[in-house]
Amino acid sequence: MRCPLVAGNWKMNLDRTRGSQLVAGIRAGLDSLGVCERVEVLVCPPAVYLYPIAEALKGTPIRLGAQDLYHEPNGAFTGEISAAMIAETGARYVIIGHSERRHTIGHLEDDRAINLKVRAARAAKLTPILCVGETLPERSAGLTLDVLTFQITAGLVGVSVVTGADLVVAYEPVWAIGTGQNATPQQAQEAHGHLRSRLHELVGPAADEVRILYGGSVKPDNAEAVMRQPDVDGGLIGGASLKADAFVGIVQAALAKVV
Ligand code: PGA
Repeated sequence: MRCPLVAGNWKMNLDRTRGSQLVAGIRAGLDSLGVCERVEVLVCPPAVYLYPIAEALKGTPIRLGAQDLYHEPNGAFTGEISAAMIAETGARYVIIGHSERRHTIGHLEDDRAINLKVRAARAAKLTPILCVGETLPERSAGLTLDVLTFQITAGLVGVSVVTGADLVVAYEPVWAIGTGQNATPQQAQEAHGHLRSRLHELVGPAADEVRILYGGSVKPDNAEAVMRQPDVDGGLIGGASLKADAFVGIVQAALAKVV
């Protein structure tokens, strides 16, 4: 049985004080649920807050992750941070290839850049959360599963996955992120089942240990239906991760999968 993972991607939101207050609120909510070992909970603040949030997380079961990295270990790469720098903060996870980095920000990341980042994360013993997902035109053209095959294959070139700690995948249909429009549980399961099959081909039996998260407008009231799908192992949560009660409500929905 895969332990569900509920990950909050804070994106470029909150400040140091409000981030720490959010952590305190999540902590209080999790204490009352008693979820500790049955659901893994992760927060991914902006890089500049990794250290203070690591401090705020001390003594809690909540884990820390970063939102991106640069693949080189060090050097003249102004503005970038390396996997080792992230690991030094105490973070154990890093989101890679998020849709906003593929489609919205700056130079737009391609699958080659994303693959280099996955490799860099693994070299620093971080668990990459590799994000994949189709755009609306791709879905409309019937290309969803082909896009997923391409992105998961390209993202994992030269990456060995031996246990579930080596990789997390996030299926995030681009058209569902921050739009309030989410995939139906059936659409999510079709995509997740497809990704699991491709993972079997790519990495062998460890595919059954890899968590595949759903992301895109997950809220407390729609989380349980999507998380009950057999190949959905938790969520990557944007907007709803910024409010403790909403985020804890989603953790509670993940808990329903394992009790
Ligand atoms: P959202 O974002 O929950 O606000 O749609 C999801 C994500 O970008 O990971």
